[in-house]
Amino acid sequence: MDSTDISSDLTEILYTKDQIDARVREVAAQIDADYEGKNPLLVGVLNGAVMVVADLSRALKIHCEMDWMAVSSYGSGTQTSGVVRILKDLNTNLEGRHVIVVEDIIDTGLTLTYLMQNLASRDPASLKIMTMFRKPEAIQSPLEIAYVGYDLPNRFVVGYGLDYAGRYRNLTDVGILSPHIYA
Ligand code: IMP
Repeated sequence: MDSTDISSDLTEILYTKDQIDARVREVAAQIDADYEGKNPLLVGVLNGAVMVVADLSRALKIHCEMDWMAVSSYGSGTQTSGVVRILKDLNTNLEGRHVIVVEDIIDTGLTLTYLMQNLASRDPASLKIMTMFRKPEAIQSPLEIAYVGYDLPNRFVVGYGLDYAGRYRNLTDVGILSPHIYA
């Protein structure tokens, strides 16, 4: 679905499919240069990062592998609680691997701070973060984010993997959700 299919649900379109595609290709080119010959493992954080991992991995010209984690932040609606539980762990042993954690969005960074500590304890050769979107609060978090797609305003957005109550992940553009949807 694109924004014309659900136009009354959005107050503003922030990034179109074409803008997202172009930025993913730029980030992929950086990763190609940084990881040549290293066969990085892309760790996608379910469910939101499905779109980013699918597009980023195909835009890479180097070999990579993929694995997935699912975490629950115990939040619902539009707020993050910061309490994290691992619902699905990796199948891959990280020891000696070059790992890139791929996220759809980093807001407070609480979810990923927990996850990074957990993954670092598994002795990867290197551990970096790629996020498609970053909100202003993330900049104050202690997380070092190696690759960022786009910065977002501090609003609740949907599309390109980002959901509200499970919906809108399949929206190809990214936009601000109209308050009448969650009021
Ligand atoms: P953090 O722990 O505050 O960085 O939140 C990260 C998680 O909150 C993301 O993986 C999303 O699931 C969710 N999230 C934060 N902001 C948004 C948003 O604007 N739209 C949809 N989900 C969001």
